[in-house]
Amino acid sequence: MASSTLWWSLLLLVVVCNGGGAFGKRILADDQQPGFDQNYVITWGGNHVSFLDQGREIQLSMDNSSGAGFSSKLVYGSGLFHLKIKLPNKDSAGVVTAFYLSSNSNNHDELDFEFLGNVEGMPISLQTNIFTNGQGNREQRIVLWFDPTADFHDYKILWNPYHVVFYVDEIPIRVFNNLTSNGVEYPSQAMNIIVSLWNGESWATNGGRTKINWADAPFTAQFQGFDVDGCAQGGSGAGSCASPGLWWNAGEYKELTPSQAAAYERVKNDYLTYDYCRDKARFPVLPPECSIKNT
Ligand SMILES: *[C@@H]1O[C@H](CO)[C@@H](O)[C@H](O)[C@H]1NC(C)=O
Repeated sequence: MASSTLWWSLLLLVVVCNGGGAFGKRILADDQQPGFDQNYVITWGGNHVSFLDQGREIQLSMDNSSGAGFSSKLVYGSGLFHLKIKLPNKDSAGVVTAFYLSSNSNNHDELDFEFLGNVEGMPISLQTNIFTNGQGNREQRIVLWFDPTADFHDYKILWNPYHVVFYVDEIPIRVFNNLTSNGVEYPSQAMNIIVSLWNGESWATNGGRTKINWADAPFTAQFQGFDVDGCAQGGSGAGSCASPGLWWNAGEYKELTPSQAAAYERVKNDYLTYDYCRDKARFPVLPPECSIKNT
């Protein structure tokens, strides 16, 4: 464990210092972050929301009467979407904390981070999923190499014309390339940023067999970092949000740097616990993107 922690520290240093994929300078420093109200609005469970630090931190809570959620005021056609999140601690089996992008349409596009709470002491799984044109079923799950309930960590979704990359801190944990030229659909509809803390006991932990322990309620999750690095849109398509003038569309964000790619390989080898592309029982014919190198 100690050597694994050291490995991650060194890797993080390499990834950050190499500049490539170091979003540090692109994202506003913590003390320059705007208050919640600038870009976001509470969408449900308003009496289960607390504003801390003059609106620079939000706490959602869930008990057996309600969870809560918030959403961006605007929709975006590309960007690097990021939040700092501290997850519910104690026995959080069945409690789901979600941070995702979603279009408000029938055949919707969606990019998901879903943290699946667990029995105290057991690892919290981080599930990612990608919907294109209403079609999801692209789940992957990893376990995290740290305790996400102890501190805030950075979770980011890069969505540009070249790829979607999910990051945990500076480490890529999932890449979905724009393979439209290979006939694979790619998210192209403008999306809201959505966050929620909700009751997922029907599916989230041990396939839904482990239910919520209400004795440990309320469950709380905290969020910080409400600046949005996104291409805001009035319409429904990504259109001009593909402009190379937007920093997240620039050449350095077209593909992973070598150190990011190495980190991503390590995640796939050591932390990936479920990959739809390897689930032949579920998909006798695997989806087309599974047979194309997708890094
Ligand atoms: C995906 O890539 C194609 C070119 O292969 C491009 O025309 C399209 O705009 C890209 N999609 C998005 C949403 O940027």
